[in-house]
Amino acid sequence: MQASDSSSGYLSDVTFPDRFHRELSPTWLNYASVLGGARAKALGRPFRYLDLGCGFAHSTIVNAAAFPHAQFHACDFNRAHIEAASQRAARLGVGNVVFHESSFEALLEHDLPEFDFIVLHGIYSWVDADVRQAVRRLISERLAEEGLVYLSYNCQPGWSAEAPLRKLMLEFAQSTSGSIETRTGNAIAGMQALGNPSFRYFRDNPSATEALSALAASPLDYLAHEYLNRTWEIHYSVDVLDDMAHTGLAYTGSATLADNHPTLLMDRQAAEAIAALPNARLRHLAEDFAVNRRFRRDVFVRGARASRSQAQALESLEGLAIGCTTEIERIDTRATIPRGVLSFQPEFIADLRALMQQGSMRIGEIVAKLSGESRNPREILQNLLFLVAGGVLTPFAHAGGYDATGVRRAANASAMAALVRSADETQGAYVPSELLGNAVAVGADEAKQALQWIAGDPATPCPSRLARLGVLCGT
Ligand SMILES: C[S@@+](CC[C@H](N)C(=O)[O-])C[C@H]1O[C@@H](n2cnc3c(N)ncnc32)[C@H](O)[C@@H]1O
Repeated sequence: MQASDSSSGYLSDVTFPDRFHRELSPTWLNYASVLGGARAKALGRPFRYLDLGCGFAHSTIVNAAAFPHAQFHACDFNRAHIEAASQRAARLGVGNVVFHESSFEALLEHDLPEFDFIVLHGIYSWVDADVRQAVRRLISERLAEEGLVYLSYNCQPGWSAEAPLRKLMLEFAQSTSGSIETRTGNAIAGMQALGNPSFRYFRDNPSATEALSALAASPLDYLAHEYLNRTWEIHYSVDVLDDMAHTGLAYTGSATLADNHPTLLMDRQAAEAIAALPNARLRHLAEDFAVNRRFRRDVFVRGARASRSQAQALESLEGLAIGCTTEIERIDTRATIPRGVLSFQPEFIADLRALMQQGSMRIGEIVAKLSGESRNPREILQNLLFLVAGGVLTPFAHAGGYDATGVRRAANASAMAALVRSADETQGAYVPSELLGNAVAVGADEAKQALQWIAGDPATPCPSRLARLGVLCGT
């Protein structure tokens, strides 16, 4: 396509969609890594975070607002991305992000500090081997001891039926002229003309037919970045494990939180077959086959993890805070997990709701409060972790509740700016919360209600969810 040599075959003539990813939050990554046995990070102290290939840096800017005492760096070689990202940071009053309009290769020459977190979302499968090597050099030279890396990528075997669609799309796009969006649209139209049972590939691979319908409904800018770069490589998880091992890093968990709990993913027969395999490497790969996985959000840690005992790992886990970001009633006796639905005792859920109404709490404290004669602390811990994996509960940066002291206000200036913009544009927003250490997804009506409450409107009740999540303070 139109990629110049300086972009190593990555598209530079179309911007990527502006997306927020909750998994990129330091809180979330800390939780995933602690589940895998890493030492918990002290998120209340200053730390440094680098986002490689940040796009519009939506997630990184919101995270910077949620951790004002930390320093964030965001790198992308697409000028339009970095300009828009700088404008967003200024609009939200976020001053703790350093933007680098630079390739990863050139970033190696910059004067950079050591980072506690390095994240790459949507990069590794879409750049060539030289760029991946530059990424690994950055990690090797710039990641602190016990630092975490988040690396997402497309993996096999989940793409085995659909991968040929990418080749078809690339060839169609190269055979027409016009802007990248036009060519992408033409490619989809061309593929649709072939996507019928007369073509045996589609007849023999029903998932490819479904994938084609999904492609036809996707935005063109997303499709161009996803499929039309010079490189599109589907990795096997164990090969990425090797790449990271050569860089001195070990796998410590998945930011797709359910993936950390095999019992939520596969039946007993699959679990037993995997347990019987002779080594951890084979078990890691076999899990991808058990769930036909196609995308991974791996978290790696530098050094140290192996030397920790089970008791130390449990202590770290119990020290983490969790809470409920939705309405409390959404904590239900049934939770959806990848393999189906989990059921919980109604009394357990009633007690948990009452606790979560107060705000976020350390896991160890919840276990202590909910333990009784009829409840086993280990089972409670497991239930809590499963509820987090099912998205009913969420990792928080800190334990805490509504700060009811002082005047009505947003918890910080960036949260206020995000609420105002959401209400003005009648559009949902990701509003930073220091308590959550992540964004709270807020609807336009909720933002409007929050602003009316802040303005002192006596008829407007305090939006209790936003208060509980540390977006609002006041009497
Ligand atoms: C698929 S987008 C992902 C953007 C963002 N991480 C997200 O998930 O929303 C990949 C981004 O990486 C950037 N990129 C690709 N290769 C790069 C390189 N060699 N150096 C710097 N940025 C690069 C692209 O410009 C693009 O913004």
